[in-house]
Amino acid sequence: MIGVYDSGVGGLSVWRELVRLMPDEDYVYFSDAAYCPYGPKDPAFIVDRACAVTDFFLEKGCELIVVACNTATAAAISHLREHYTIPFVGMEPAIKPAILNSHSGVVGVLATAGTFKGELYLSTLARFSGDVKVIERVGEGLVETVEKGILDGPEVEALIRRCIDPMLEAGADHIVLGCTHYPFLQPVIERLAGPAVTVVNPAPAVARQAKRLLGKKETSQKKGSTEFNSSSKDISILLQLASL
Ligand code: DGL
Repeated sequence: MIGVYDSGVGGLSVWRELVRLMPDEDYVYFSDAAYCPYGPKDPAFIVDRACAVTDFFLEKGCELIVVACNTATAAAISHLREHYTIPFVGMEPAIKPAILNSHSGVVGVLATAGTFKGELYLSTLARFSGDVKVIERVGEGLVETVEKGILDGPEVEALIRRCIDPMLEAGADHIVLGCTHYPFLQPVIERLAGPAVTVVNPAPAVARQAKRLLGKKETSQKKGSTEFNSSSKDISILLQLASL
């Protein structure tokens, strides 16, 4: 079984890529919606939640855990790898491919405040940015609208415009989705950004990494199922977005 978790519904954007790539595996999804959003929270709190969720997955018998949350990866993945023997796959900030493929020399990154402060993001940026100008924007309000199941409309457009307009004005030709909630808004982001801009979602690459780590273990009882869990009572939006 593969455990997949996020502060909320965002990790479903990674889960759907995992299912696409490994449809026969069994998944346990955990949405930590009672504590969402993680973005502005203290990293120590996110580490505590990551340990609690990991213990839950271990009780379920998971053999691999995908931290389908950039903010939790930034705050907790080193701690998790130090304290547990189960393998973890985290989110990679996809700024490297965006920087390498940029022709305009300007790249936009949308993420949470926690992700921008993370060592992984900062070291990747320092290593690869070179002459490329990287414009960072915290996607204020975006996680909250996705959690409500609102994926389009004037309110969403206004929030997205506030984030991406400065990137477009500076000539960005790539926009990196550095939060797993944002791929649910990708159609709107692409529409507003226009065809000259490539929107980069790291989820397919993360799913491929999970497949590599899982290796070729064959177990006969696999059903190709997913069990959905949440720290919040209401899982209606979770189930709704999982069925998209
Ligand atoms: N989906 C998350 C991420 O990838 C967390 C969003 C949040 O809870 O602030 O960063």
